[in-house]
Amino acid sequence: MNFPERCAFEKSYGLYVLYFFGLISVSTFLHFYDKIPSKHWRVKLKNISDTPFVEHTNISHTNPVDLGIWTVNSIGRLGNQMGEYATLYALAKLNGHQAYILPAMHNYLSPIFRITLPVLPAEVVSKIRWRNFGLHDWMSEEYRHIKGKYVRLTGYPCSYTFYHHIRQEILREFTFHDHIKEEANQYLRGLRGEGREVTYVGVHVRRGDYVWVMPKTWKGVVADRSYLEKAMNYFRTKYTNPIFVVTSNGMKWCKENINASRGDVYFAGDGKESSPGRDFALLAHCNHTIMTIGTFGIWVGYLVGGETIYLANYTLPDSPFLRVFRPSAAFLPEWIGIPADLSPLLPKEKPAEDHPPV
Ligand SMILES: *[C@@H]1O[C@H](CO)[C@@H](O)[C@H](O)[C@H]1NC(C)=O
Ligand SMILES: *[C@@H]1O[C@H](CO)[C@@H](O)[C@H](O)[C@H]1NC(C)=O
Ligand SMILES: *[C@@H]1O[C@H](CO)[C@@H](O)[C@H](O)[C@H]1NC(C)=O
Ligand SMILES: *[C@@H]1O[C@H](CO)[C@@H](O)[C@H](O)[C@H]1NC(C)=O
Ligand SMILES: *[C@@H]1O[C@H](CO)[C@@H](O)[C@H](O)[C@H]1NC(C)=O
Repeated sequence: MNFPERCAFEKSYGLYVLYFFGLISVSTFLHFYDKIPSKHWRVKLKNISDTPFVEHTNISHTNPVDLGIWTVNSIGRLGNQMGEYATLYALAKLNGHQAYILPAMHNYLSPIFRITLPVLPAEVVSKIRWRNFGLHDWMSEEYRHIKGKYVRLTGYPCSYTFYHHIRQEILREFTFHDHIKEEANQYLRGLRGEGREVTYVGVHVRRGDYVWVMPKTWKGVVADRSYLEKAMNYFRTKYTNPIFVVTSNGMKWCKENINASRGDVYFAGDGKESSPGRDFALLAHCNHTIMTIGTFGIWVGYLVGGETIYLANYTLPDSPFLRVFRPSAAFLPEWIGIPADLSPLLPKEKPAEDHPPV
């Protein structure tokens, strides 16, 4: 009597565990795999921790005062890469060390931005015995006193609490190349029409894998049509002639769920996750921001500096997401949160026939 039930329970539990770890390993694999540019590099990576440190690199010799070598892992897509870069920049400075980026991060960011941190050659990366230092996603007092001359910061840091005190320097690092800036401005001018004063609002709708990762893994939701409608109405009420420039990695959903009948909505981005620079530049040149979730939108809001509306409280209170993510460290205090509708996550009402007759 008891046995089959137990069995069924264990089976489904086992499947769930398998599924969950499958998810993690597949996404970890994907994260790392596309960040490793060549076979050569992959071989070198194996040697990072097991070779003794070699001091005779040209890098230390050209440093009059030896400031050591600090770097950060290069993982995730554009928003994560920017967060890692800015956090390295700020923490190396706070601790009095010289920051260098890995070639993979340089390949990711330098086609878009005029970043200035020097790049570590792959041969040097492989010869250093790094001290790996894991970061959580908000600033801590201990991060002002990180020990070590050869430190590699790890994790997915993306919080203004690391770098807001040097905001101007960070904004300067993320200055667009002229041709990208020009292309974005030209596109925006084309939406305006002659002699019309308009206010551009960049709208980033993050979908893609988040649509199922949020409910399945994180007990959370993504932005729905009602959130976007409220956020857009905020700007429609406050500014004359707002123009909404929508980019998304789920444009089909956007076209079906954003009411464009007023003629003020433009579905603009190409949604290419492999080369997100163009979409990012379009949004970053607008005057204000509507973001949904994700570090891409957070960086748009940070760079634009106008008003930013974000989706707030988009997980259940017991979500494991809240152990790695602090809303107060992700969203600037002056940004405006609109709470998410969590009802799709709540258990459905029981059908009437399940209740005993009254
Ligand atoms: C890796 O390290 C070993 C021993 O430390 C060395 O013999 C080997 O040549 C290194 N491989 C590469 C690709 O640097
Ligand atoms: C180090 O500097 C010397 C002299 O400038 C140069 O010949 C050599 O190629 C450099 N080595 C590396 C690894 O960059
Ligand atoms: C879209 O907006 C127009 C203009 O405000 C409104 O009349 C219409 O009912 C809306 N359509 C939907 C499907 O909400
Ligand atoms: C709004 O953005 C446009 C395009 O970047 C810019 O030309 C304009 O000066 C901005 N307006 C304000 C008030 O900042
Ligand atoms: C999110 O939830 C917290 C805790 O319940 C609450 O203090 C905060 O006001 C909420 N944020 C928004 C924008 O509703």
